[in-house]
Amino acid sequence: MDRGPESASNAGAVTGLAENPAEAKKLVFVCMNVDCRVRGASEVMERLSTRVQNECSQANGGAGADNPCGNVDVRPYMCFGGCHDGPNVIVYPDRVWYAEVKLEDADKIVDQHLKKGEIVKPLTGKIEKGLEDMIFNLLDFGIY
Ligand code: FES
Repeated sequence: MDRGPESASNAGAVTGLAENPAEAKKLVFVCMNVDCRVRGASEVMERLSTRVQNECSQANGGAGADNPCGNVDVRPYMCFGGCHDGPNVIVYPDRVWYAEVKLEDADKIVDQHLKKGEIVKPLTGKIEKGLEDMIFNLLDFGIY
């Protein structure tokens, strides 16, 4: 069975992703351990945090025209175990793992995924499926 991501709305059938991307609370986890930081995770985290704070926070009035991505938090994560493919970013509960994320990719994650519900496909599929599932399950159990 092909489990590759097609779009965030298709992923919803598998992951429970809301039809309207503005409906669900999202957590954007950025690995801030050493391997990801030496590849630029700090800059990715800062870009994501700044854009989400300015464009996606509840302080902007909740979901709506002024806040197209709804309620989103950007949080550091200790390590996802995909250390050779960092910087790594996971959008939860969408269960989407972005690897080798560059600074400009942070903008794509905000503009395409958070605002439009579209998975940034070129940044996915780089992590072994068993590891992805293990980390997603940990997040499901609230381990973060
Ligand atoms: S250092 Fe980022 S996944 Fe381990």
